[in-house]
Amino acid sequence: MKIGILTGGGDCPGLNSVIRAIVKKSAKLGHQVIGIRDGWKGLINLNFTNLDTGAASGILHLGGTILGTSRTNPFASEDDPPKVIDNIKKLGLDVLIAIGGDDTLGVAYKLYGMGVNTIGVPKTIDNDLSATDFTFGFDSAVNIVMNALDNLHSTAESHHRVLVVEVMGRNAGWIATYGGLAGGADYILIPENPFTISEVCDSIKRRHASGRTFSIIVAAEGAVLAEGETVITKDVKRDAFGHVMLGGIGKFLCKEIEERTGFECRDVVLGHLQRGGSPTAFDRILATRYGIAAVDLIEKKDFGKMVALRGNHVVAVSLEEGVKRAKTVDMDVYEIAKTFFG
Ligand code: F6P
Repeated sequence: MKIGILTGGGDCPGLNSVIRAIVKKSAKLGHQVIGIRDGWKGLINLNFTNLDTGAASGILHLGGTILGTSRTNPFASEDDPPKVIDNIKKLGLDVLIAIGGDDTLGVAYKLYGMGVNTIGVPKTIDNDLSATDFTFGFDSAVNIVMNALDNLHSTAESHHRVLVVEVMGRNAGWIATYGGLAGGADYILIPENPFTISEVCDSIKRRHASGRTFSIIVAAEGAVLAEGETVITKDVKRDAFGHVMLGGIGKFLCKEIEERTGFECRDVVLGHLQRGGSPTAFDRILATRYGIAAVDLIEKKDFGKMVALRGNHVVAVSLEEGVKRAKTVDMDVYEIAKTFFG
């Protein structure tokens, strides 16, 4: 069989681990693998490369994606879907594996409905894909946040400051909740739980009244102000999937906290650092298991599916189930994190 692979949307640690697993398992079964460059863009422009085992060697631990990625949405223009289908035919692909988040897998689902054999592998540092307990990339991002909080504690304490650490998380506060819990945050703001500035300030004041001289607040970029249900945006311009560019909540909160409490405050934006670097052991193993499971689905000709983690088992779910809604934070875990708020 001829298998195509692409990586779409924001990159994350573990993409190369999936590519390696797919290529090496496919080679053992006698399948040929073609890598599509830069996500769906490569199927519009016909930009691809052959992936033999040599090309997929030595990449397990590397961050990013050797195939490149983009946020291209072929369904944003009516000219592009026919080009994509035509190019899949030109390449002679029997199946296409899309490695991505809800946007990329949403396209794979639409193409499946149009007769293309597609399989999805769930990726995103945001962990907001439904139908799977975890996406790969998330654990690596959480570790980056945890390490940042470990480092920030000493400077916050030395200067008796409040630090507001802005992390990624557009619709869901998974990174903020897990990263904050692992790094000992004193307050965590997530999109699932709209907040008021006064409740944040009151919590910090309580903590300082009990003798602490510094605080660390973790805020997801998509955290929502209860007053007016607003999110803070960097740019209202929308990308091909209709998303605005978030960012700025850290700076905003910092100013408000300093004005209302009198405590000196600084903001730290972790930004794309959270998507960089080597995958953790957990993500390397999860990504590898996903890659192997995707090839197993091809062997069974079980298309229109997404591989998923349920408990400790990798299973197959329909792509439809995978993309139908965002997975928000498990509020039981958030409740645990709240135990440590001031
Ligand atoms: O991949 C998802 C994500 O990490 C979001 O949390 C964030 O809003 C977005 O990527 C930013 O991506 P970029 O700057 O690459 O468009």
